Amino acid sequence: MEFSQRNIERLADLRARFLDASGEKDDYWSSEETLALYDETFAERIGWKWDFALRDLERLDWSLPEGAVLDWGCGTGVASRKVLRSAIARRANSLWLYDRSALAMRFAAKRLEQSFPTLPIAQGENLNATTILVSHVLNELSERDLRQLLERMERATAILWVEPSLKSVSKRLVEIREKLRERFRVVAPCPHQAKCGMLAPENETHWCHHVVKPPQEAFTQSKWAKFAQAMRVDLRDLSLSYLVLDKRPIAPLEAQVKRVIGNARLYKAHASLLVCDETGARECQLLKRDFPNVFKALKKGETPSLQKMNVENGRIVEWRESERDDA
Ligand SMILES: C[S@@+](CC[C@H](N)C(=O)[O-])C[C@H]1O[C@@H](n2cnc3c(N)ncnc32)[C@H](O)[C@@H]1O
Repeated sequence: MEFSQRNIERLADLRARFLDASGEKDDYWSSEETLALYDETFAERIGWKWDFALRDLERLDWSLPEGAVLDWGCGTGVASRKVLRSAIARRANSLWLYDRSALAMRFAAKRLEQSFPTLPIAQGENLNATTILVSHVLNELSERDLRQLLERMERATAILWVEPSLKSVSKRLVEIREKLRERFRVVAPCPHQAKCGMLAPENETHWCHHVVKPPQEAFTQSKWAKFAQAMRVDLRDLSLSYLVLDKRPIAPLEAQVKRVIGNARLYKAHASLLVCDETGARECQLLKRDFPNVFKALKKGETPSLQKMNVENGRIVEWRESERDDA
């Protein structure tokens, strides 16, 4: 891909639209070139977020129900490409690509057909899909669009939803979780089925998000160096908010398994982590003298996600690999 001035302007224009959280946006997929440009840049970064969520699901031993997958608001189809390539998609037997842009649906279908030549792939909104994927769509939806989408979701068995970790988007995803958890079980990121701890007044300043380590290629391929320079982005800075729901029964996790939210905050002799479990989300302190190796890893930016730990009076007193992490 060439980072010509024209292409940089196209990418900057797209990014400005994505970041604008004012709701409904016009169809911005003006040409196949714009879609291709997006697919090689923003969509790849979105794909790294999907990799994070999918690794989590594999660790949890979770997989898609049998049946059709619908990628709703598919864009260039990165969500379905990632999901269908992963181990969790063994029982997916067809794919439906839906977007308000016919150009985007055609582009995605062409890419997906190349990658999965034997899988039946169709364009349109299959209302009987057992799995619905949604990726980076939420801040483009009006309240009405969202209500209709949620109504459609009532018929599905599983929902996989990945969004950027913008505070406003994450808060909206939490509201969706609360609405849908009457009928669905929460598979991830929450290690519990209770009300979201982020809704407690004392957590108003926090939002549920998870830090993604980009793959090595982000730092070795010249394409990414050029992209970072042109878009003025720090490639290390990547995080997501996500939600995975399932109507089927799921095995509860041990009470010791907790979700660490966002980055650890580091001080001279301790780290502060926002830890979520059934009892809520709260700051916990990890003392360097208690866990020197963990503290060292946190300093390197290696914040765990699902983690087995015991906490007493806000102090982490036991820290173990999550059993399902070992799977
Ligand atoms: C930021 S793009 C994300 C595309 C893709 N899901 C991804 O993760 O790369 C948002 C997509 O949602 C689509 N979209 C926005 N509003 C929509 C609506 N009301 N119905 C269907 N698609 C919509 C847009 O056309 C666009 O393709």
